[in-house]
Amino acid sequence: MAGYVVVGTQWGDEGKGKVVDLLGSDVNMVVRFQGGNNAGHTVVVNGEKTVLHLLPSGILNTNALCVIGPGVVVNPFVLFSEIETLEKRGLTCGHLRISGRAHLIMPYHIRIDELEEMRAGDRKIGTTKNGIGPCYADKYSRIGFRVSELASFDSFCEKLKSTLAFKNEIIAKVYGGTPFDYEEMKEQFRTVREKLLPMITDAVDLVNNALDEDQVVLFEGAQANMLDINYGTYPYVTSSSPTAAGVCEGAGVSPHKLQHIIGIAKAYSTRVGEGPFVTEQINETGEKLRELGAEYGATTGRPRRCGWLDLPVVRQAVRINGLTDIALTKLDILSEFDEIPVCIGYNISGKFRDSIPASLEDYYIAEPVYKTMPGWKTDISGVRTFDELPEACRNYVLFIEEYLKTPISLVSVGPERHANIIRRSLI
Ligand code: GDP
Ligand code: IMO
Ligand code: MG
Repeated sequence: MAGYVVVGTQWGDEGKGKVVDLLGSDVNMVVRFQGGNNAGHTVVVNGEKTVLHLLPSGILNTNALCVIGPGVVVNPFVLFSEIETLEKRGLTCGHLRISGRAHLIMPYHIRIDELEEMRAGDRKIGTTKNGIGPCYADKYSRIGFRVSELASFDSFCEKLKSTLAFKNEIIAKVYGGTPFDYEEMKEQFRTVREKLLPMITDAVDLVNNALDEDQVVLFEGAQANMLDINYGTYPYVTSSSPTAAGVCEGAGVSPHKLQHIIGIAKAYSTRVGEGPFVTEQINETGEKLRELGAEYGATTGRPRRCGWLDLPVVRQAVRINGLTDIALTKLDILSEFDEIPVCIGYNISGKFRDSIPASLEDYYIAEPVYKTMPGWKTDISGVRTFDELPEACRNYVLFIEEYLKTPISLVSVGPERHANIIRRSLI
């Protein structure tokens, strides 16, 4: 039995795609279990960059079966445009399977996401406007469409007609937006279903059989712990559980099957969208981090908010996910700083606290308590062994490891697949 999980420990964009791609050659299967095309996972191989949104980041390796699991929300139009982009480059996606239980992101989910963000004004969440929240809301209201419903097109259309009539009322009468034409949408789905049907599978059987046969299965998280619907900075979160527990729910596997839970942590912090961010640097330091780290959203192109590493945030991810390993990424980006502050706790109304407050109000007024570490001011992007790193850099890594009480098994020092220092083999 070998279930591996990769999850984000901060606010997303930690480098999950890079690590999944790296491990891809050693695994039999890569499974997405939550989220949708709100994700933007970057993989760089021999200087060529690929950004994956809905497709698992194992897709570049044709030996591993790639599965879009039951807990994912699938925009079928985005799916085929992603597949086409890869095929134009001579890559194949014949090793992709999609769970019939996954929910469909419908065109009206996207429009409602946009309209709701507009309506909310100052209180907007800053979503990716890909219809993620409205799709999960319909799933839990039990009025969503599952991928498998496309199999019987007549019943699909019947349900579409009545659901669309209701959604159009909301779009037009509540938001003053433009409603959809049923016949047009029906034809769009008629075309897309032809391509989708052959990929549909029972992912619960597929994944569990693989685990029972001792194959290596890697579960690829999107988003991250601080965007978790339960434990993130609600309401400034996404609408799924991007955690190890989310794997059990979203892929239909038992917690007993998950042996290795790898948390990806960026050596500093970034966040896209609204919500509290205690160590944010709205100044030249933040701009320097953004420019050096090329911190612009892989999905929306928005500039990412940047700040120092927040260790209570990462420790929350250690606890909630039960991380067995950490991959620390983008350490190379810190090479140009004289001093590197690391947040070790918060001052909230005069009281020290080193965990995440449940109250958003408390989190907004939290002030960071920093330990300032000396910088190393040396390019480390070509270093491949821990001992070769400058002492100050090693101390930065060891300090984080000690705080988190979790081994930092991999240190990533560049976007390329093999730009890593491997301290302990992950697979
Ligand atoms: P994900 O959403 O967690 O997969 O991360 P993203 O792909 O959205 O963002 C991570 C960005 O950092 C991508 O552009 C990666 O190519 C890049 N990256 C990943 N690891 C490293 C690293 O160690 N150093 C540098 N300089 N870039 C990295
Ligand atoms: P990866 O997998 C960073 C953020 C959005 C917004 C909030 C809700 O690349 O790490 P949503 O569209 O999900 O309803 O938006 O979540 N968000 C991400 N931020 N990385 C991501 O994915 C994200 N996916 C969603 O910016 O704040
Ligand atoms: Mg990303």
